[in-house]
Amino acid sequence: MQKPIGVIDSGVGGLTVLNELTKRLPKEKFIYFGDSLRAPYGSKEKEEVIGYVFEIVQFLMTKDIKVLVIACNTATAYALEILKESLSIPVIGVIKPGARAALKVTKNKNIGVIGTLGLIDSNAYFETLCEMDSTVNVHQLGCPMFVPIIEKGKTEGKELDLIVESTLNPLKKLNIDTLILGCTHYPIIEGSIKKVFSDEVTIVSSAEETANETNLILNSLGICEKRDSDTSIIHDIYTSGDLKKFIELTNKIFSNNLSVLGKLNFIEKRMTKI
Ligand code: DGL
Repeated sequence: MQKPIGVIDSGVGGLTVLNELTKRLPKEKFIYFGDSLRAPYGSKEKEEVIGYVFEIVQFLMTKDIKVLVIACNTATAYALEILKESLSIPVIGVIKPGARAALKVTKNKNIGVIGTLGLIDSNAYFETLCEMDSTVNVHQLGCPMFVPIIEKGKTEGKELDLIVESTLNPLKKLNIDTLILGCTHYPIIEGSIKKVFSDEVTIVSSAEETANETNLILNSLGICEKRDSDTSIIHDIYTSGDLKKFIELTNKIFSNNLSVLGKLNFIEKRMTKI
């Protein structure tokens, strides 16, 4: 059954999830959509984001995707349940996997969560973590500046370090031993985030667990690709934004080594709801 897996995000952040997906599932073809033109999602109204997500998903459904991975925490918080109800294919979000990853490593059960304002206001991580373990303390912090900075291409340097340090400062006094990067863009600036905390704080993102969950679902439904290992797969990478900028930024994120993701075909696709 030669069908691709759809992966969506508001921009380049979901590529951190795609990276784990391609590692975990080397025989699968992926179609990624980064909605850079309309990023950030985290400062927009829930209904607006749901509208964008549905528009993208409708487009991906024309490509006959067999599974949808919402590689965006904000979109997961806002749209996962509605998508699950309305689509006939499995839909995987990143919040449960992120929460699971954190619970695996925390010792003192003091967990920090950082994300977009929309994600933090939704309380999605708080509720998911408490459902999985009622004894955890969850400290949440919205970081509205991070996604716009990353989408502009600032992924390292003194200026970024200062913004990250001053934003995350309130979390330093709370004795957290685990920090969830509750936004798929944040692993891109993990270097700056790490500098704020001592080595005692473990930083987790949902990418790996999301890839594991996708693998489990494909296996349980018997819909894994059975291609020969020498088949050369080309992943389609769509952006609603400027193609040149998107490719430049993607190259920067992966240190000019895009081959870690496999063979990529970048395509610009403007969407209608602006
Ligand atoms: N990568 C998205 C997330 O995980 C960023 C959301 C945004 O565009 O603000 O939440």
